[in-house]
Amino acid sequence: MLSLLSSLLCVTLLGLRAGAFPIDDFSVTSQKFLSSAVPDGFSINLDEERLVQFSDDEPPVWMTEREKIRAKALGRKFFDITDTPLSKLAPAPLAASRAYPKLNKQDLVHPVLANLTVDGMITNLQKFTSFRTRYYRSDTGKASQQWLVQRIGEITEEYASTSLAALITVTEFTHPWGQNSIILRIKGASEEATAENGTVLIGAHQDSANMIPFLPAPGADDDGSGSVTILEAYRGLLASNYTPVQDVEFHWYSAEEGGLLGSQAVASAYAQRSVNIHSMVQLDMTAWVKKGTREEIGIVIDYVDADLTAFMRTLIDAYCSIPSVDTKCGYACSDHASWSKAGYRSAFAIESTFDNSDKNIHSTNDRLDISPEFDFNHMLEFSKLSVGYIIETAGWAK
Ligand code: BES
Ligand code: ZN
Repeated sequence: MLSLLSSLLCVTLLGLRAGAFPIDDFSVTSQKFLSSAVPDGFSINLDEERLVQFSDDEPPVWMTEREKIRAKALGRKFFDITDTPLSKLAPAPLAASRAYPKLNKQDLVHPVLANLTVDGMITNLQKFTSFRTRYYRSDTGKASQQWLVQRIGEITEEYASTSLAALITVTEFTHPWGQNSIILRIKGASEEATAENGTVLIGAHQDSANMIPFLPAPGADDDGSGSVTILEAYRGLLASNYTPVQDVEFHWYSAEEGGLLGSQAVASAYAQRSVNIHSMVQLDMTAWVKKGTREEIGIVIDYVDADLTAFMRTLIDAYCSIPSVDTKCGYACSDHASWSKAGYRSAFAIESTFDNSDKNIHSTNDRLDISPEFDFNHMLEFSKLSVGYIIETAGWAK
């Protein structure tokens, strides 16, 4: 009874986006799932106190994990800052404002784009969505992460020349909750250029989550799509024997759905180690083209770096066959926000405007076979964008 009351109270207090989902359904179902025992295969303490920040204007608040899960289901976005409080954020080492030059590597980029296909993305995403959930505190979320590490290794073995393979390292960035973030690095040919201009970074989140975390979450669009999109960009670069001038890193974050936990841990560790990052671009949801709408690439314009974002538009004009459209995502909406908060330049490309985006996320229906609106050719446009971004910013050592 008490927990039903607190559930109703929560709905009243946090129901800022009433209509975003059927509140009655959630309070009843969540009551059932969040007040009974945690099922096997999950390691969550629903009573654990977490420190959660909902905006830059209000102080962070302590709440239980259970309340945090409810807040998210009610459409609230937040950083869970329990493990990475602002006081632990060192200032990021940024060079003075960097103007983005006109694109000048078209001759190098276009042949790589011609190598990119949907084939690998289809098989990779079929496997990735076959885990019951990729929830960051679940056994299957750990297994999906291990599979992704293994798949990266297979792609490296199959497509990298011996000299290129010697420049590549895959590291697990360990988190206390089980599923680790993955960091794939291609060492650049010039240490001086990396020190001066920074590492070029692209990322996506590997975890998925049902609104009620114990239920299945195939996470095909959110963010299986972004995860395999950057993997295809990596494969295409290797197949073209690409060696960057500056270091390039691909990141697959854990625990985005828990409040940007993985990306905050990585970004704050980089800032503490004074790692110079040229720019961070992230892809979260790249598959959906809503029926009856024009196919576009959404460019998020809030909580991002304006110059990098403008540069993204020029990359889309040059390397994609569809136009860009500006959109907003709100506070703490995805992993780019962790890098912005740590003081780095970040940008975010997404499948469409926020309004036209996939409404199946965080449910059992976030499947790749749910509708023809789930479109691998749309994802391919984001692989092209990724390749253009990497070659234009990290250079090509010939
Ligand atoms: N991919 C979503 C963000 C999103 C949702 C973008 C809808 C565009 C349209 C992301 O994985 C997510 O779910 N973010 C959370 C916030 C997070 C900090 C808990 C959200 O939006 O609820
Ligand atoms: Zn999500």
